[in-house]
Amino acid sequence: MGERVPKGTHVTDALIHAFSLSSKSEADFINIVSAKDCTLVDDKGKQYLDGMASLWLCQIGHGNAKVVNAIKHQLDQLQTYNTFDPFTNEPAVQAAEAIRRVSPHPEGKVFLGCSGSEAVDTALKLARMFHQRRGDADRQIIVRRTSGYHGVNVGGTSVQGIESNRVGWGDLLPHVIEIPNDDIEEAASLFAQHGSRIAAVICEPVQGAGGVIMPPDGYLEGLRRLCDQHGALLIFDEVICGFGRTGQWFASQTFGVTPDMLTFAKGVTSGYLPLSGVIISQALADELVSDETAKLMHGYTYSGHPTAAAAAVANIQVIEDEGLVNAAQRIGQRMSEGFTALLGDGMIQSFRGIGGIWACEIGGDAIPARDAMINSGVVCRGIGEAIAFCPPLIITDDEIGTIFDTLSDVLKQRSDT
Ligand SMILES: Cc1ncc(COP(=O)(O)O)c(C=O)c1O
Repeated sequence: MGERVPKGTHVTDALIHAFSLSSKSEADFINIVSAKDCTLVDDKGKQYLDGMASLWLCQIGHGNAKVVNAIKHQLDQLQTYNTFDPFTNEPAVQAAEAIRRVSPHPEGKVFLGCSGSEAVDTALKLARMFHQRRGDADRQIIVRRTSGYHGVNVGGTSVQGIESNRVGWGDLLPHVIEIPNDDIEEAASLFAQHGSRIAAVICEPVQGAGGVIMPPDGYLEGLRRLCDQHGALLIFDEVICGFGRTGQWFASQTFGVTPDMLTFAKGVTSGYLPLSGVIISQALADELVSDETAKLMHGYTYSGHPTAAAAAVANIQVIEDEGLVNAAQRIGQRMSEGFTALLGDGMIQSFRGIGGIWACEIGGDAIPARDAMINSGVVCRGIGEAIAFCPPLIITDDEIGTIFDTLSDVLKQRSDT
């Protein structure tokens, strides 16, 4: 058991931390107090380069005045209101329009929520709803991929391919079947067996939390083909990949494969305020509105939250004005060069990634290396034996240089000991 921090001191033990040892004392966490651009500052004044854009999300960097001011302005007008019938608000409508405009479905429609997990559960429910409404009540299977991460709501927990996240909660959703993340033939046999009962396949184009795993050549096209042949829907979970991360607005555009639905969160506001959602294709949107009597019995209190929506509109504008989608391609070039050099020096075993999302295999538990990186002032993520990076898309070449100098030092010290 960790030491209990007495009440009344600055640090209390009230907070339950996400994905953490419950016994860890509050005092042992790094307390971030401020941030600007790619630099974080903790309560002791120590600075860190944010090589993870918080948690794969802060595309425009920290402290962007345009987004901060847009939020302040909206707070002065209308802080909060819901969009349940009969209400709407202008920022929510504008955010939906701005989001679909940059998406592969500019004529589609956008549902808004708060978290990636809400977006995923919404997409799963919508997929099943469309089949139910078509009279295909037996089509309920959701196909998940090994190492996929789709958040922690019950739906997302059930359809994620990271087993350690799925155990310990009792029964999860039925009708979920897993396929390997790299073998389209296995997917084809599953469809051959159960095709008429498959509602949807859920897939991160680049798997993030599972370890920055790229799709094999032709794999995403293969999923698209199988879904089309068997009448299933294809959902791309772009919670990490969306909003420029892979060098296009959405990874769907990067890989040239268009899903029926896309989930998004994180980069849509760069995390300044929580916002997420689902984009549905024009065909699904037409289907949704075609029955004038069908009501959507789904929605969150904060669906279309005006202040979060205002943050999204301003954030998308900043991404456009500052050319951050193209910047991801420059970052990809620099990161690839940095990893190639480390590989040449025998410091890493392999690397992978695209645009602003990368990982390298270091051939041993990544957590001590991650801790050494953070100690040396660079935030990264340890996943298995991989170190992952996903920096703000405003990161400079010099800052990328700092990431690689630090990584090189840490890996060298590790091999020296
Ligand atoms: C691909 C993907 N989907 C869903 C989620 C869940 O998002 P949230 O943590 O906002 O619920 C995440 C979070 O990292 C994610 O990476």
